[in-house]
Amino acid sequence: RRVSVLFGGISSEREVSLSTGRGVAQALREAGYAVSELDAGEDLRAIVSQLTDDRPDVVFNALHGRFGEDGCIQGVLDWMGIPYTHSGVRASAVAMDKEAARAAFAAAGLPIARGGAIAVEQLADGDPLPVPYVVKPLNEGSSVGVDIVRAGSNIRDRIVRDWRFGPLALVEEFIPGRELTVGVMGDRALTVTDITPNPALSHGFYDYEAKYAAGGSQHVLPALVHADTFALAMEMAVAAHRALGCRGATRTDFRYDDTTHGADRPGRLVLLEVNTQPGMTPTSLLPEQAAHVGIAFPELCAWMVENAAC
Ligand code: DAL
Ligand code: MG
Repeated sequence: RRVSVLFGGISSEREVSLSTGRGVAQALREAGYAVSELDAGEDLRAIVSQLTDDRPDVVFNALHGRFGEDGCIQGVLDWMGIPYTHSGVRASAVAMDKEAARAAFAAAGLPIARGGAIAVEQLADGDPLPVPYVVKPLNEGSSVGVDIVRAGSNIRDRIVRDWRFGPLALVEEFIPGRELTVGVMGDRALTVTDITPNPALSHGFYDYEAKYAAGGSQHVLPALVHADTFALAMEMAVAAHRALGCRGATRTDFRYDDTTHGADRPGRLVLLEVNTQPGMTPTSLLPEQAAHVGIAFPELCAWMVENAAC
């Protein structure tokens, strides 16, 4: 079978996608597919014309972020009638828009952080939520543009001045404790990973550096959390995947506040987001979870190809 790996792209996560795409292309060759690689640059006509020439049986979507994860390229591939990996137009668009995703999670009864979207200039007037709180772009990934406003920190004016993510910002209460994540393949939650950012390489949370620098974070899997929390995270990841109508593999991120409960009692688990194009880089979490349950990287990539649709 012929597979075109679509990667690179023009979002702020281009470097991440280059890494995802290279690894995936190599793994698919190992798995026996005829692979072509297509760096999705500025020119959509060039992408369409290359795909028209290559006539792949499946497009492996290895893009992250704007145009690659938000339903845009999914719509193009639907129109061209080429099956592609991961989620379709609607699920991609809703998952990528954190405000829309929060509404869908709330409607499905899934716990989200207190907060919502505000006009970013509002930050210049004062704190929209009690500190500490998190400010995020509505449509980015890999923690691009994320800041935590803490007591006494003087960064609101800087955030407003440097903001390049549109008129709105999402503000959410900061949930102390841990960062957990659960990969989902179809109906199956893989395991729970507990992520600890390396304080020397990150800015106090699981930010871009913690995600992609070698040694940027420590991953413990299966996570050593209360058994009820573990089971709930697995269940909620599948429920969130379903609530958005996702396809193929996703990865759902959580905050887990275990600071006010003893180790013998479950704490508060809050859903942050579903990633419809989870990273597949050497430091990424989904491939690590798949390997943990016995699915090697080429097998994971092949599973994605075999579950492609349009
Ligand atoms: N947005 C990055 C690629 C992730 O979720 O893994
Ligand atoms: Mg994300």
